[in-house]
Amino acid sequence: MRVLGLETSCDETGIALYDTERGLLSHALFSQIDVHVEYGGVVPELASRDHVRKALPLIQQVLESAGLTTADVDAIAYTAGPGLVGALMVGATLARTLAWTWGIPALGVHHMEGHLLAPMLEEERPNFPFVALLVSGGHTQLVRVDGIGRYKLLGESLDDAAGEAFDKVAKMLGLPYPGGPHVAKLAESGDPARFDFPRPMTNRPGLDFSFSGLKTYTLNTVHTCESEGGLSARDKADIARAFEDAVVGTMVIKCRRALEQEGLSTLVMAGGVSANRNLRAELAKALSKKGAMVFYPAPQFCTDNGAMIAYAGAQRLLAGERDNEDTRVRPRWPM
Ligand code: KG4
Ligand code: ZN
Repeated sequence: MRVLGLETSCDETGIALYDTERGLLSHALFSQIDVHVEYGGVVPELASRDHVRKALPLIQQVLESAGLTTADVDAIAYTAGPGLVGALMVGATLARTLAWTWGIPALGVHHMEGHLLAPMLEEERPNFPFVALLVSGGHTQLVRVDGIGRYKLLGESLDDAAGEAFDKVAKMLGLPYPGGPHVAKLAESGDPARFDFPRPMTNRPGLDFSFSGLKTYTLNTVHTCESEGGLSARDKADIARAFEDAVVGTMVIKCRRALEQEGLSTLVMAGGVSANRNLRAELAKALSKKGAMVFYPAPQFCTDNGAMIAYAGAQRLLAGERDNEDTRVRPRWPM
């Protein structure tokens, strides 16, 4: 079965073609960063309009680069939520219109299920069951995964998502949106010994996260530096490093705890923040000591993309799922 995947939940138009026998055939992505950068964050209406402009040309491009035509597509999967309502509606309307015109099924997919299953696009794939750490701009969750659609939430952020915290700290340091990669880059040259930021909620049992206290701590440190003669480039790098180390340290503790609690030895990381190199390295180091394995998607499939939606959709379509007339986009949608 060849499944065309459409991702339009936020600020990337991602299109891909996945073949259940042969794997990923082709994919294309248009990132709207340049559209939103001057506003310091995603402007929902501009996001919707840009998806309208980019989706069809990208579909054409993906089919051409796979050497296929519309007649070769067997089903369409699109992101039905969670995300920005207008952006989701663009993808859903296009997917369902094309599916109706071509006489094939359409299926709305959960964006976080897409992220969760993205490591399955790699040659070395994890076996079920595993624990997944989902860390994106909107979510920070630990999930037990026993199979496709068999998910149990083990813990989540009680306030900001990890990516959101990265983006807000980037703003405090005067870095552009989306801030995560900029903070990570700056942290590379920071001194890890200068500041020691708190690792929130690691002293008590449980698998929930909280990043708002860490964010405030970071802001207070910025203000202290400012009042002591100005925030220098050195200060910024050291703060970025301390913040990143605190997030990474917290995640390592929680992931280890989740694996122990569930009696599992496979961890899967996904979502935009899983592109963070420090996080990958520290998790791999900590878990290898315990004899556990970490799997993550290729960097281009950590952040939003069409391939993960095509893959997740293909699994559910193979199981017989289809949209019906009552299917709606769901801006808020617990997994
Ligand atoms: O999964 P994603 O592309 O979109 C959502 O579904 O939210 O994740 C985007 C988030 C942003 O907050 C971005 O700053 C963060 O992932 N991010 C990173 C890195 N790359 C992207 N955060 C930390 N380090 C990175 N290298
Ligand atoms: Zn995402």
